[in-house]
Amino acid sequence: MNADTENDIKHLKAIGKICAQTLKKMMKHAQPGITTAELDNIGSEFLKAEGAKSAPQTMYKFPGATCISVTPVIAHGIPGGYVLKEGDLINIDVSAELDGYFADTGASMVVARRIPEIEKLFTAARSALDKAVHAAKAGELLNNIGRTIQDEAKRNGYNVIHELTGHGIGKSLHEDPSAIYNFHKPDDRRILTEGLVLAIEPFLTPGRGRIVEEKDRWSLRTVDRTIAAQFEHTVIVTKNKPIILTA
Ligand code: CO
Ligand code: CO
Repeated sequence: MNADTENDIKHLKAIGKICAQTLKKMMKHAQPGITTAELDNIGSEFLKAEGAKSAPQTMYKFPGATCISVTPVIAHGIPGGYVLKEGDLINIDVSAELDGYFADTGASMVVARRIPEIEKLFTAARSALDKAVHAAKAGELLNNIGRTIQDEAKRNGYNVIHELTGHGIGKSLHEDPSAIYNFHKPDDRRILTEGLVLAIEPFLTPGRGRIVEEKDRWSLRTVDRTIAAQFEHTVIVTKNKPIILTA
């Protein structure tokens, strides 16, 4: 959507904040001994208390309020009986709706430990997101986002996951512009406009950057079972630095 009015911006900020708070709360509770279903329930209860609805559940009948992916699953992981243990690399992705407005955010983390090799991947992925957000400017090419992400990945010795993209958002979870690539695509000539609401979500991996769907028809894992990290923000494009709704 295009956030044209103060009212739009106000509502987008409200749901952006709720998604960010939900993610933060879930990350805090992602400790050894908790199941991913219990962790999802914490997120679900928080969303409910704020009057918000899980987007994947209501829009796609996803079997969970949030996506919790445990390596080698990197996205769309279904919360369940898996018990988190120290050193697990996980990703939590929260998207929700309030008063007809949507936001989407996600982050990767390691449970109860710091692993230098993974910290390095996180630093690169966070930096890719930060630089991509700054590259999203009204009047510029939309693919500046993808080019920036791929450049930053490469500079740090990583690949992007090619099949996973950012997307337009706002009045629905996924809307135009669809497929905000995480890589340079010279024939993508789409131009960013002021007020456009986007979810930007780089996925970085030391592997080949290709994924497959698991038998549960939701979970996506890397083909080579390598690790990956994703960080995601919902933003409103302006002529300068975008408004980050999920900070
Ligand atoms: Co997301
Ligand atoms: Co998204």
